[in-house]
Amino acid sequence: MSKGHNVLEVHADAWTGPGGPQDVFAREDPDWPLPRIVSGDDIYLYDQAGNRYIDVSSGPVASNLGHNNRRVIETIKHQAETLCFAQSRVARTNENMELAEKLALTAGDGYERAFFVSGGSEAIDTAVKFSRQWAFANGEKDRKKVISFMPSYHGGLISTIGFGGDEVPLEVFDGMMQVSEKIPAPMSYRPPDGLTPEQNEDRIIGLFQETVDRVGPEKVLAFMYEPVGGVATGCNVLSNRFLKAIRQICTTHGILMIADEVMAGAGRTGKFLAASHTPDGMPDLIVLAKGIGAGYTPLGIMLAPAAMVDRLAKMLGYPYGHTAAANPLSCAIGTAALEETLERDLIGNAERMGQYLTDRLWALAEESPVIGDVRGRGLLLATEVVANRETKERFPADVVAPDMIRRLGFNHGLTIYGRRTNNGKFGDWIMTSPPLIITAEQIDEMVERFGATLKDFADEAVRAGAKVA
Ligand SMILES: Cc1ncc(COP(=O)(O)O)c(C=O)c1O
Repeated sequence: MSKGHNVLEVHADAWTGPGGPQDVFAREDPDWPLPRIVSGDDIYLYDQAGNRYIDVSSGPVASNLGHNNRRVIETIKHQAETLCFAQSRVARTNENMELAEKLALTAGDGYERAFFVSGGSEAIDTAVKFSRQWAFANGEKDRKKVISFMPSYHGGLISTIGFGGDEVPLEVFDGMMQVSEKIPAPMSYRPPDGLTPEQNEDRIIGLFQETVDRVGPEKVLAFMYEPVGGVATGCNVLSNRFLKAIRQICTTHGILMIADEVMAGAGRTGKFLAASHTPDGMPDLIVLAKGIGAGYTPLGIMLAPAAMVDRLAKMLGYPYGHTAAANPLSCAIGTAALEETLERDLIGNAERMGQYLTDRLWALAEESPVIGDVRGRGLLLATEVVANRETKERFPADVVAPDMIRRLGFNHGLTIYGRRTNNGKFGDWIMTSPPLIITAEQIDEMVERFGATLKDFADEAVRAGAKVA
C-alpha cells in the first residue's frame, strides 16, 4: 500500500513565478495543483515526495506498456547512439522500413502501407489529406466533405477540430475550421425517444444516408469515426451490424471510411485493430497513435492499402510530410513497443483484464450509487457517473464530475484521466483504462481506491448541492 497522500500539503505550489508547468495554460483550480511526477515504474507514477499513484488511465490512454519498460528504454539508448535522425524525403532508414513491415504484418490484409507522423491529430490530418489527394487524382474533384459523429473527438489541430463533435471548441473556432457534417453517435446508454440501441442504430443509419443524399454522394469524401470511442463518448462501442450498414452505403457511393483508432488501436481493445471486432464494416484507412508510441515517443500512423498507395504513387503521389515524420528514433521505439506488445501477449491480457476490470467495476456499482454505466472493449473502458442510476440523470452543470474525481483520486493514490466534453450534455465519465500490463491483483487495488475516490466524490457532490440517489 502507498503512503498516505496529502496532495495539498505536498504540492501547494500554484504557479506565480516565471515559466511554470504546462497546466498554467489550463483553467485549473489553484487549490488543487497537479502532483509533480518524478518517476514511473510498471503501472505506477511517483511524485517528488515519494507518493505512489496508480496510472488508472494510462495517462490519456497512451502508456500501454506502463512505465520504465526495459526493452523500450534499451532500444532508446541504442538507437540514440546509432542514428537519431535522417529525414524521410532525403534518405531511407532501416528503422522506418522495419516498423512499416511489422505493422503491415500485424494489421493484416488491406493495411500494407504505413505513413508516419508525430501524433494522433497529425495522423488524422494525414488521412483526410490522403483521401482528398486520392479523390483529386481520380478526377473526383468535388469530394471534399467529411461526415462524422456528434459527439466525437478527432484531434486538436485547426485542421481536425472541425471533424470532432464537441460544441465548445466548434463555437470558439467557428469560421476557422473545415467543419464536418454531423450525425448522432449511436450512444448505447441513453438512446433517445425510448428506442432500443438497435432501433437507434437504424435511425442513425437512415440519417447517414439522408446526409449523403443531401450533401450529394459525389461530394462526400469520407466518413470518420471511432470504432470504440474515447473521451468524447466514454468508450461507446459501435456494433458490427451498424458498421456493416455504413460500409454498404460508403461502398455504394465511393466514400472512404476512416477509422480513428488513435486511442482504440495498438491492442488496447483486445485486438490489434479495434476495427477487427466489426469485420463486416472494415475501414479503408486506419489512424493509430497513442499506444503505438506507448508514451515513449511521439508517433502517429496512417495505415492504408497498398492498392491505393501504390496506384496513387503512379499518379500524383502523396508528397506531403513533416520534418519529424518517420524519424528513426521514433520508429525504433515503435518497433520495440510493438514487439513487446505481441511477445508478452498484452493484447490477450487487454481482453482478459478488460473483462475482469469490467466485472469488478460493476461489482463496485452495487455499493456506489454514482456509477451509471461501465462500457468499452478490452482495456479501453470508461465509467460513467450519474446523480441517479434509475433515471440516468446527469450531475448539475456546476458539479464537474470528471474534474472532481480526477482531483480526489490523487488523495487515494490514483492519477485519472477524464474531462468534461460538450459541457456534459451527453454525460460525464472517466477513463478506467490502465496499462495493458496490469494484473488482476493490481486491478483489485485500483478498484478499491477508485471506490474510495467515488465515495468522496459523492459526498462532495452532495455538499455542492447535487441530489445523489
Ligand atoms: C480518438 C482520438 N483521435 C485523435 C486524437 C488526437 O491525438 P493527439 O492528441 O495525439 O494529437 C485523440 C487524442 O486524445 C483521440 O483520442
